[in-house]
Order: sequence, then structure tokens, then C-alpha cells
Amino acid sequence: MLQVEIEKERSFRARDALTIARIVRVNHAGEFGAIRIYSAQMLVSGWLWPDCVSSLAEMLGDERRHCVLFRDAMPHRKSRPCRVMQFWSCGGWILGFLTALLGRQAIWVCTAAVEAAVHRHLDDQLYFLKDRDPALSSIILSIRDEEIAHLRHAEERLVAPSLAFRALRQAISLVTDSLIWLSTWGDSTRMVRALIADGRSAG
Ligand SMILES: [Fe+2]
Ligand SMILES: [Fe+2]
Repeated sequence: MLQVEIEKERSFRARDALTIARIVRVNHAGEFGAIRIYSAQMLVSGWLWPDCVSSLAEMLGDERRHCVLFRDAMPHRKSRPCRVMQFWSCGGWILGFLTALLGRQAIWVCTAAVEAAVHRHLDDQLYFLKDRDPALSSIILSIRDEEIAHLRHAEERLVAPSLAFRALRQAISLVTDSLIWLSTWGDSTRMVRALIADGRSAG
């Protein structure tokens, strides 16, 4: 009986370790995607919307720092960069480039959609990690305020959303979630289910 309990505990720990490795991987990929989005938007804004450049540069600086934090957190958790980083790279850059060509409002719609998705995921992760990996939890807490500031900054600049911009925001949310799914070969869906189930059993 004791052996069964030990085996069960070991399998819970292994499952948690796998989920934690996936969290670090998807966060690292997400930060990399954000770097690519803001880099492309800065490039276009340099030509067309110079008043947006300083905000984008500030957010880009934050995302670069976040990316390094998650990269450094990988080895200890037996995590590695995801196998489809090129999707994040190309997808992020194209998304940033096209939205910046559409104008200032499209830049802020894009930022609001991406940062809202980030915010949702970080909150789920914080709940899961608080007792399982306090060190990773504090890394996420240390960047959370900056991610919320990015979201607020974008939302403050959005005028009353037209139908087209509402559709754009939904499309970008879909693209972001698809990239998250792809980056973990579907693990993100299972991870969210695990987080929800865990939340229910803890509550
Ligand atoms: Fe970030
Ligand atoms: Fe951000």
C-alpha cells in the first residue's frame, strides 16, 4: 500500500515537472514572439508613425529582458526552446509588420490582443506554480506588472473600436493562441485543462 502511495506521489511530481518545463518553454517562445512583433512595428513606425517609436522601444526592452529570464530558467527545469521557434519568429514579425502598416490603431489593437493573451496565461500559471515552483512564480510576478502596463498603455490609446478593429483583435487572439498551441504541439491545451482541474480540486 505504501509502495502504491510512493509511486503515485512520484508520478504526480513527474507530471508537475513536465508541466513546469512546458510553462517555461511557452513563456520563452511568447516573449520571443513579442520581441519580433515590436521590432517589426518599430521598423515601420520609424517611417510612418514616429510618435509610436518610444513606447514600442520601451516595450521591446521589457520583452527582451523577460525572454532572457525565461531562457535562464530553462536548464534547471530540463526545458528547452520550443521546436517551432520559426513560427514565433516569422509569425510575430509578419503580424507586427502588417499591423503597423495599417496604422497606429492597428498597432494598439495588436498590442492589446497579444498582451491580454499573455496576461490570461500568466495568471493561470501563477496559480499552478505558487507551491510547486516558487522561484519561477517570482520570475513571473516580477514581469507581470510590466505586461499589465503594456496592456493598459495599448488600451488607453484605442478609440471606440470599429467592427473591423474588433475583428482584427479577435483574429490576433486566435493567431496568438494557435502559436501557443503549435509551440507545444498541443500541450498548451492539456496544460490549461490540467490547471483548471487542479484549481477545481484545490478549491
Ligand atoms: Fe513580456
Ligand atoms: Fe508585454
